[in-house]
Amino acid sequence: MSSTNTSPEPAPPGRVVLRPLTEADARAVRDWPLYPPEVEALDYALRPGGWLDQFPEAADTQRFAAWDGPELVGFSILTHVAGGEAEFYVALRPDRIGRGVGRALTEQTLAAGFGGLGLKRIYLKVRPWHRRAAALYEKLGFRRTGRAVEEVQGRPVEFDLMEVGPADRRPPG
Ligand SMILES: CC(C)(COP(=O)(O)OP(=O)(O)OC[C@H]1O[C@@H](n2cnc3c(N)ncnc32)[C@H](O)[C@@H]1OP(=O)(O)O)[C@@H](O)C(=O)NCCC(=O)NCCS
Repeated sequence: MSSTNTSPEPAPPGRVVLRPLTEADARAVRDWPLYPPEVEALDYALRPGGWLDQFPEAADTQRFAAWDGPELVGFSILTHVAGGEAEFYVALRPDRIGRGVGRALTEQTLAAGFGGLGLKRIYLKVRPWHRRAAALYEKLGFRRTGRAVEEVQGRPVEFDLMEVGPADRRPPG
């Protein structure tokens, strides 16, 4: 593009900017439309009592809002930050699923974790049926370490456990 052309570049797919998540952002998330059938089991995470209430901003928790221009399109959480380790959560606005935003948001959250926060290891849990999420995590260098059952909303749920360290990370792209 010529240096005199001032029209904005079209944003690359999935391009987002991360900012600290505010209480206003958290309220907006709680009002997002329902998740589609593919991930309706995760819808609770957006609602009152969901992840943003379970993991309020705290000394051991950092929350990130993903912005695409003026639109809040997702959020991520690094929590239980201790001893150079943390647990990761991520969720997109329903209409942004399947467009590469999760990759951009996850990459930038890992960069913040391994960069500014100085983490050495980041863990997550993913439901075994959730191929989209697991594929994303694997592409970014997470590897599966086992399986566990945890209670979610009073019911036992099976999870694959995954983790990544700074040396495991795959280059963005
Ligand atoms: C999980 C989530 C963060 C993934 O982000 P996303 O932007 O929707 O992910 P994408 O659709 O771009 O998929 C990521 C990768 O997995 C691949 N993929 C998607 N569906 C797949 C499937 N069923 N099987 C294998 N790979 C799949 C994509 O091709 C993509 O790879 P690429 O970057 O090489 O093209 C997002 O869908 C989301 O927020 N879902 C609802 C909340 C949630 O599930 N949170 C995570 C709980 S563990």
